[in-house]
Parts: sequence; C-alpha cells; structure tokens
Amino acid sequence: MPSRLWHPFADMSAVRDREVVFTRGEGAWLEDEVGRRYLDATASLWYCNVGHGRAEIAEAAAAQMRELAGYHTFGDHANRPALELAERIAAIAPMPEAVVFFTTGGSDAVDTAAKLARRYWHAVGRPEKQVIVHRTSAYHGMNAYGTALAGIPANRADYGTLIEATAVVPRDSTETLRELFEREADRIAAFIGEPVIGAGGVYPPTDGYWAEVERLCREHDVLLIVDEVISGFGRLGTWFGSERIGVVPDMITCAKGITSGYVPLGAVVVGERVKEPFWTKPAGGGAAQMFRHGYTYSGHPTSCAAALANLDIIEREGLVARVAQMESVLWEGARRLEGHPAVGEVRGGLGLLAAIEFAPHVLAADAGFAGAAAAAARQAGVVTRLLVGHSLQVSPPFVLTEAESDRLFDGLRDGIDAAVAARGMVAAAW
Ligand SMILES: Cc1ncc(COP(=O)(O)O)c(C=O)c1O
Repeated sequence: MPSRLWHPFADMSAVRDREVVFTRGEGAWLEDEVGRRYLDATASLWYCNVGHGRAEIAEAAAAQMRELAGYHTFGDHANRPALELAERIAAIAPMPEAVVFFTTGGSDAVDTAAKLARRYWHAVGRPEKQVIVHRTSAYHGMNAYGTALAGIPANRADYGTLIEATAVVPRDSTETLRELFEREADRIAAFIGEPVIGAGGVYPPTDGYWAEVERLCREHDVLLIVDEVISGFGRLGTWFGSERIGVVPDMITCAKGITSGYVPLGAVVVGERVKEPFWTKPAGGGAAQMFRHGYTYSGHPTSCAAALANLDIIEREGLVARVAQMESVLWEGARRLEGHPAVGEVRGGLGLLAAIEFAPHVLAADAGFAGAAAAAARQAGVVTRLLVGHSLQVSPPFVLTEAESDRLFDGLRDGIDAAVAARGMVAAAW
C-alpha cells in the first residue's frame, strides 16, 4: 500500500512506495525493519551527537513526563528543567551574562533571532535598521525567515515575496560585506552565518574570515548572529563553534545537538547588549521593553529534561574533547577518497564534518550519478545523503570509533564504485 507520509525534501512520486523504515539505533548504528544494519554517517540530520539508544535520556524524559509533561513558560511561568538548562547553556556560552530564549527547533531559533535583532534596534531608537545579511550557500531553516535568508537558490525559489529586508553576500567575501556595510549599515540590523556552512555543502571558513566579519560588524554597528544549529554542542570540538572560529556573537541560534535530537528543542542564546532593553528598566523609570514573541513549547519541561541528560552525557564522557581528537581521524579517512576518479573535492577538517563532492565532469555526464552513489552507499551499509546535488554528507555521532570511521569511508567508496559499475560508466571515458 503506498504511504500517506509526505516526506520533507522528497520527490514523493519516487519515494511513496519505496521507503526505508528504520526501527532501532545504537551508538553510530541503525537498523531497519527487515533487520539490515547501517552505519549512520550523518548522525541523522547532523544532530545525534551522543549516538543512538541512550536509555538515560529516555529515562529523564519519562521521569519528567510523569511529574509534569508540559507546561508553558509565557509570562512568569517556569519549570525547573527550563531554568536549569538556561543556566547551564549560559555557563558554556561564549558570551558573558548570556540569557536563553527557548524555541522548538532551529528554524524557530532563526526566526526568533532575526525578529529580536529588528526588535532590538527598534527598542534603542533605530527602527530603520531592519535588513538581515546572509551568505550564499547558507541554510538557516525553512520557516519564512530562514527561507528568505536561504543561500541555496533552490530553497528560496518559487515562493514569491517573503521577507524583503534581507541582503546576500558571497560566502567567503569580506570585501563585499565591507562594501555593503559602508553603503547601507544604517539599514542593517544583523549579519547571520554558520561557522562552517553545513547543508549548503560543508564549507569551512577561509583563513581570517570570521575575525574580519566580527570586526566589520563592530565597526559598522551591526549585530552578529552565529547560526550554530549544527555546530552547537560540540561538533567543532568546542562547546560552541563560535569559540573555534574565535568570535563573540550577539546571538547564537542552536537546536539539534542540544538534545542530540532525542526530542525537539531549539534556543537563541542572547548576549548582554541585545538583552539589555528587554531585561532592564529604562533609566527614567517605566517598564522594560517586552519581546512579544514565543512558542507554545518554548521551555517545554520534557524537552529541557532530555537536554539536561544529553549535556550530562557529553560532559561525563568528555565528548567535546573526543570530537577534537577524532577530527584528524575523520579528515584522514575523508581524504582517502580524494584520488577517486569520480570525486572532485573533499572538504572538511574542522570538527566532525566533511563532504565528498563529485567531479563536475561526472555530474555533467550523468545528472543522476550523485543520487545513485548515495543510494548505493546505503546498500553498502552506510547511510549518507546528498547535499546541494553534488556532495555526500559526513557528520557522524561523536561516539564513532576509529574502526567505524574506516568502515564509513570504505562504505562510501563501495557505494561510489557500485554506482559507477551500475551506470556503465568507465573512468577512462570521463
Ligand atoms: C544552520 C542551520 N540553521 C537552521 C536549521 C533549521 O533547523 P530545524 O530543521 O531544526 O528547523 C538548520 C537545519 O539543518 C541548520 O543546519
């Protein structure tokens, strides 16, 4: 019977009667309904940092559900898990005196940060500063704000008018950013960027990129939002990617690794400057500004309890330090694919992130090759996925062992070889 489940980012005419149904997970491994085992090369969608099958997180969520499963945090309502989690995140955040606004995921976090940036400038008497600047190749989620900020053209196409107060700059160009700021800073509220571009193809920053972005933001009085939905909670070998790239943001958006995806949760970590007009009474008396924004599940106690258990595991097992150690192992493994005739470029080297991009002439000769290689890798026992039509994603759980890293890249190679063979391609003819 064809499925009634409408899959995100899927050609439903192709997917509807050939789904792969996963049933279990353990560490870096997955199992499907017919008992096949796969290595999870992507930690689901970049999020299962502590690995699958952690009973401790399930127990923490269940215990909280038995006490108080859900209750809102609007107005003066709070719950202990939300209070404790905000405290812990503030303590590891790379900005002093941070506070935390909870959301339900990364797209909500981006919406919240973008709205808060604009609201901040309004509160301090500069309402004309509304434009949010983003980068080509960026992915900032799929809510209307994130879609308007999409640096992957296909994700922005065909929706008509969304949020108009945005501007895009080339991924690595601080020169274009400088020119834009010099011309338009009076209208610009914030710059948003990922420490390492993720869904847009895994592009680590060029040398000095982030130091210059931070400098330009300060010089032109533009807020700096670092989108850490992927890099937050250890993926770059530091608690937050901002530390690794050496910047102190005004806001950090995060999600995914905050619970390792065991339950949905996101957050915006807000630094002192943006917090001030909303948390402090004005000098002349009266009320502080109110941020009229929030989600039904902001600060959801069960999600926050799961997040606390997740942070316990990361801390107890030293998983952030482990990422820093495994970084070179993963990078060496990825680079073994560099010489493959179907591979054009291998990117990564920063944290547990890499991408294997197929050679342009291979994709030109056979547009379906990249998808076929991803499918063949799964047949070979390694689940990956295609980024922007040309690259295979590598972002494993932090618990990946060295042997599993070898297995991962052997599986990708087997998949690529199988696709070459199945599609009758002869390397010599390329
Ligand atoms: C950098 C970045 N921002 C935002 C998002 C959106 O997060 P979500 O899918 O949880 O809404 C993602 C998701 O992959 C992301 O990678």
